[in-house]
Amino acid sequence: MIRFDNVSKKFNTKSGEVVAANHVNLQIEDGEIFGIIGFSGAGKSTLVRHINLLEYPTEGSIYIDDVDITKVSNKELRRYRQKIGMIFQQFNLLEQRNVTGNIMYPLEIAGVKKTEAKKRVEELLHIVGMEDKAAAYPSQLSGGQKQRVAIARALATNPDVLLCDEATSALDPITTRSILELLKDINKKLNVTIVVITHEMKVVEQICDRVAVMSAGNIEEIGTVREVFMNPKSETARKLIIPEETNLVSHTDRDVLRIVFDGQSAFEPIVSSLTIECQTMVNILGANTENIGGKAYGQMLIELPGDPDKVQKIKDYLDRQGIHYERGR
Ligand SMILES: Nc1ncnc2c1ncn2[C@@H]1O[C@H](COP(=O)(O)OP(=O)(O)OP(=O)(O)O)[C@@H](O)[C@H]1O
Ligand SMILES: [Mg+2]
Repeated sequence: MIRFDNVSKKFNTKSGEVVAANHVNLQIEDGEIFGIIGFSGAGKSTLVRHINLLEYPTEGSIYIDDVDITKVSNKELRRYRQKIGMIFQQFNLLEQRNVTGNIMYPLEIAGVKKTEAKKRVEELLHIVGMEDKAAAYPSQLSGGQKQRVAIARALATNPDVLLCDEATSALDPITTRSILELLKDINKKLNVTIVVITHEMKVVEQICDRVAVMSAGNIEEIGTVREVFMNPKSETARKLIIPEETNLVSHTDRDVLRIVFDGQSAFEPIVSSLTIECQTMVNILGANTENIGGKAYGQMLIELPGDPDKVQKIKDYLDRQGIHYERGR
């Protein structure tokens, strides 16, 4: 269990004080995949760097399994740090070492015997599916392969926690998916708690159990991914779920409804039945849905008719179908 207790972090810069974390209270449970989402500069990296004390809080405490790590000795801190792995957007591999050498590195530092370390590297190569690239150098690998090596290296010392700071932000959507699947697998099979920093809602949707939404050093809301996606409470969450550049932003003065599909129903029948049953044309302003095995996931924005009776009919219909909706903007 990782617990932030009233953690604040202030930086003094030339242009004044920056509050990167503002009285943060947060608990991440063992075995959970926890997301931290927010726009650039929100304070995500700074907050997460407190978990291994790469940042020291200006105020407050960070507990790992009920031990306040801001109070432990340097020796103990080193032990905690070995139990926390980290991966990054830029992979941070050692260019002059091959794949085996990179994964071996933390084991050398931990003083693991050579024969034992070699065996461990083989296990790790297997876990991340990179056995055939053991002798390759980073420059010979794709981004996705580099991240697999970085994951293997981060897991070398058997950490309890893996921190992922924008680990898929440099990767294309298909490679992103495969890396997220790998992380999910590692979470399940090795029971590693994973903290995922991202600015992309789709990353959170794909792997996280719960998510915290951050803005300007504040945690704006925390909830299960479903809760936050269905009913975003903060302006930041809404902006992340409905980005400005998508077709999901309304440009009309009419009232708008955001309909959320979470796999209970297919997309097309809903739209056509809505038109027929409510005897009104619904104007679809935009949609961002994915069809997975005949079920719809995602969201759709519709313009509501001016007639309140018709609006009520639409809402009643959606209620009957058990489809979640909320007022759009
Ligand atoms: N070492 C530092 N010195 C001064 N200011 C800092 C330092 N580290 C971070 N900051 C400031 O703290 C704030 C939060 O930064 P942080 O890197 O944690 O944001 P982030 O949410 O991770 O952003 P991004 O998505 O761009 O990585 C920013 O205003 C940043 O400029
Ligand atoms: Mg960051």
